Amino acid sequence: MFSIENMIMLDPIAEISSQIGKDTRVNKMNLCLGYFESELHKTTGFTVLNSPDISIQDEGNIDFSILGETTFRREIASLLSIQTSNQYYQSVVQTIGASGGIWLIFSLLKRFEQCRRVWFSCPTWDNHIEIAKNTNLDFSYYHYSLDENGELDFDLMLKDISQMENGDILLIQGCCHNPLGVDLHLEQWEIVAILARNKKVSVVVDFAYMGLAHGIEQDKNILFLLHKHLNYFFVVNSFSKSLGLYGERLGTLTCFAKEQEIVKGFETYAKRIVRSSYSMPPQNIAKKVAKVIGSDSLSTIWYEELTQLSNSLHLRKRALLEALRAVGLDKLVINQNSNGMFINLDLTTPEISELAKKYAIYILTNGRLSLACLQLLDIPRLVEALKMIKFCHE
Ligand SMILES: Cc1ncc(COP(=O)(O)O)c(C=O)c1O
Repeated sequence: MFSIENMIMLDPIAEISSQIGKDTRVNKMNLCLGYFESELHKTTGFTVLNSPDISIQDEGNIDFSILGETTFRREIASLLSIQTSNQYYQSVVQTIGASGGIWLIFSLLKRFEQCRRVWFSCPTWDNHIEIAKNTNLDFSYYHYSLDENGELDFDLMLKDISQMENGDILLIQGCCHNPLGVDLHLEQWEIVAILARNKKVSVVVDFAYMGLAHGIEQDKNILFLLHKHLNYFFVVNSFSKSLGLYGERLGTLTCFAKEQEIVKGFETYAKRIVRSSYSMPPQNIAKKVAKVIGSDSLSTIWYEELTQLSNSLHLRKRALLEALRAVGLDKLVINQNSNGMFINLDLTTPEISELAKKYAIYILTNGRLSLACLQLLDIPRLVEALKMIKFCHE
C-alpha cells in the first residue's frame, strides 16, 4: 500500500523547495518562488491590511456561508464588474487560493457538465496539470512560444486551439503568464473568445496575477471582451500575489453569464462540491480583504502598493538585464518584454544544476527565475555565477 517506488516526482517547485531546505549554505539564493519579498526587510510589500480600520475583533459571529463570506463575495463582484450596457449575471465563490478555484471549476465541469478535456498553454504553471489529473480530466497543450522578437507566436497558438472540441475546457492565463510573462493583446483575446464560442468550449481565465501587469482596471479589460462574445465564462483570482496573502489561501472563482439560469446552476453545483470537500472557506481574512476593497481610502493604498510591487519587479529586471549586458550575457534572458514575476534563462539542465551545486543559486529546471525573490543586492553574485558558468569552463 502507498508504495512510492514508481512515484513520479512532485511538481518541480515542490521538489526543488525540498532540495533548497536541505542546503545548509548560508548564502543560498532561492529564486524559485513567485512570492514577493521587498529589498532588505523582506516583507511582502503590502501594509494595507495592517490598518487599524480593518480590525474584525467584534465580529466573531459565524455565518454559514458555503460559497464564501458574504461581504467578500459582494466586494469581489464589484471589483470584477464589467462596464457594459448589456445585461449579465455574476456569481463569486470564495476559494482556497487560485489553486482551489481551478480545482473547483474543473471538478464542477467534469462532474456536472461531463467535460472531458482541458487545454493548457505549453509551457504553463506545472500545478495546472496536476489539478487536471486530480479532477480526472484529460489534457492537451497549445503552443505558447515566443518568436525571435520575444512576442507570442499567436498563429501557432491559434492553430492548436482550433482543434478544440465541443465540451472541452480552455484555460488561459489572464496576465503575467507563468512562466513566460508574455500575454495576449486585446485583439487576440477577442479572436480566442470568438473561436471558443464557435467551438462551444468553456473558457476559464486563470487571473492569479491580476493587477500585476498594468493595474487592476486595465488588466480586467479582457473580461469585457469575453463577455461580449461568450454566453458564459469563468475567472479565477488570488490574493496570494496581489495582496501578499500566500499563507492565507484566499482566492475566488467567478461565473459570468448572460443567462441567470446558468449562474443559479453554477452556485447550486459549486455548493455541493464545496460542502462535500472542505465544507466552507475561512471567513476572517475574507472579511478583512472585503474591507480593503470596499473602502475608497484603503483600496487606494492597495492599488498604490500593487503598482509599487509591479514597479519593483520591472526595476529588478532592468537591473539584471543591465548587469548581464555589461558582461555580454543579456541574450540569456529570452523574455525581456515580460510582465510579472518571472524571466526565463536560456541555460541547459547541467548549467542549472551547476548554478545550484557550485554557487547555491536555485532557479527552476526549466530556466524560470523569479524576480519576486531576487534582491537588487544579489544581482552581482548571480551575474558573476552566470559568467563563470558560461565563459569559464575548463
Ligand atoms: C498561473 C498560476 N495560477 C495559479 C496559481 C496558484 O495561486 P494560489 O497561491 O492563489 O493558489 C499560481 C501560483 O503560483 C500561478 O502561477
